[in-house]
Amino acid sequence: MRHDEIVPVLDFGGQTAQLICRRIREAGVFSTLVRPDIPRAELAAMNPTGVVLSGGPSSVYDQGAPTMDPGVLELGVPVLGICYGMQLACQALGATVTQGEHREFGRAALHIENAGGLFTGVPQNTSVWMSHGDQLTDLKSAGLDVLAATPSCPYAAVSTRPGAASAFIGVQFHPEVTHTPHGIDLIRNFLYEICGAEGNWRMSDFADRACEDIRRQVGDKRVICGLSGGVDSSVTAVLLHKAIGDQLTCVFVDNGLLRKSERGLVETTFRDHFQIDLRVVDATDLFLSELTGVEDPQEKRKRIGASFIDVFKQSSADLPDAHFLAQGTLYPDVIESGHGHAGNAANIKLHHNVGGLPKELGFELVEPMRELFKDEVRKLGEVLGVPDQIVWRHPFPGPGLAVRVLGEVTRDKLDLLRDCDEILLEEIVASELYRRTSQVFAVLLPVRSVGVMGDGRTYESVVALRAVETQDFMTADWARIPYDVLARISNRIINEVRGVNRVVYDISSKPPATIEWE
Ligand code: XMP
Repeated sequence: MRHDEIVPVLDFGGQTAQLICRRIREAGVFSTLVRPDIPRAELAAMNPTGVVLSGGPSSVYDQGAPTMDPGVLELGVPVLGICYGMQLACQALGATVTQGEHREFGRAALHIENAGGLFTGVPQNTSVWMSHGDQLTDLKSAGLDVLAATPSCPYAAVSTRPGAASAFIGVQFHPEVTHTPHGIDLIRNFLYEICGAEGNWRMSDFADRACEDIRRQVGDKRVICGLSGGVDSSVTAVLLHKAIGDQLTCVFVDNGLLRKSERGLVETTFRDHFQIDLRVVDATDLFLSELTGVEDPQEKRKRIGASFIDVFKQSSADLPDAHFLAQGTLYPDVIESGHGHAGNAANIKLHHNVGGLPKELGFELVEPMRELFKDEVRKLGEVLGVPDQIVWRHPFPGPGLAVRVLGEVTRDKLDLLRDCDEILLEEIVASELYRRTSQVFAVLLPVRSVGVMGDGRTYESVVALRAVETQDFMTADWARIPYDVLARISNRIINEVRGVNRVVYDISSKPPATIEWE
């Protein structure tokens, strides 16, 4: 992808390397990860405005530790080294890096000794986030000035002197994480005070450039895109359609486990509004028969995942000229699947979604959003005119309502849950709580309880309401939905949905509970 202004980040394997890119983009300059050993000439050909060296888990003195072309420091543009990146560059400049007396993890008090430049507008005493065992211990003849220190790290920020062959600044701490309160100011200062960036990059540029890249990748071949109705696959489809129009075919599998009106929303949005070639495959019977008698949640997921692949295989066989498969893979998916540098995240639940199609399908992949984070995808969706209803949609699990009908899934239970869920969402939207919550849904419990309606005794289903607030879905807190809203929801469900006589509200956080009940 070519950009007018770009600040590439050399990726030394740090967990927050992509976060650095994202902060730079947030500040208005395009940024992307590049491999750590990228040759100077290749980097120069990108015409960068500045370069950042990320952190990483290695020690610069380890055998096989990632290195960089020292020519990177002589490109004639400013270079910012973070943590490992700082140590590597300083070592190349002649300083010594050793294992520190103390390891430093977490918040540290930073005292700025040399204001201005990187620290323009930042208070002289501030806090920063540290995560390192090694540190610079001797600047020797490296020609570096000390800009800031913490009590246990005397060289917490250093820079080369004005007029030196390399314009280098190094920080031992992590400005890219939110735990460094002035971190974004430091990144802005690097871009604008030090690199002299203009900062014209906007998400619309990403869309234009991504379209160019897609066209270049797929040529005149057909692309198939599995649409789930969620924000990632929806934005992917619209982006692809903008790039290649009729060469795109979307496939939406109705597995019978969807919410009410979900299929309709996808049809009106993509077929009617965007005029995308959309094939809807009704596979309800297959999925429900696969689920007959199955109570175990992981088994449900396995069967749903396998059926999805079968259905997708079948429908892609109907499109023999399809050569590419478009997927809404985001950066966190890349990391979670172990393809990034951060390793495998623990697999608490088997996740099956459109992103998990196997290699044997024989497609080449088109993944235009691999560099983006979720909120960036939402911005991209807005830029592309994807309706708010989809852009701001709460996530919905691939196995759908099958993991919200606890125990065995049947058509009747699904219908009952769909009605409850619709009421819940209507009331949440009407109370303007949808955008203030991260995920809201109803769960049909596998128990019945006694109630009294009119003068008669009832023995009917119990429905649990779940509403959570979370940043990343790894941890979550239950949402404090006002009592009067809860009361309205409960009343409506019990009055309007035959077969439910009790509604309960889930007040568990994650951990120890998970967001879904299965
Ligand atoms: P948990 O229940 O693990 O959910 O706290 C975290 C997020 O993941 C969603 N989720 C799934 N998504 N396939 C998916 O595509 C699945 O099998 C699955 N299970 C949970 C859940 O809705 C929440 O957003």
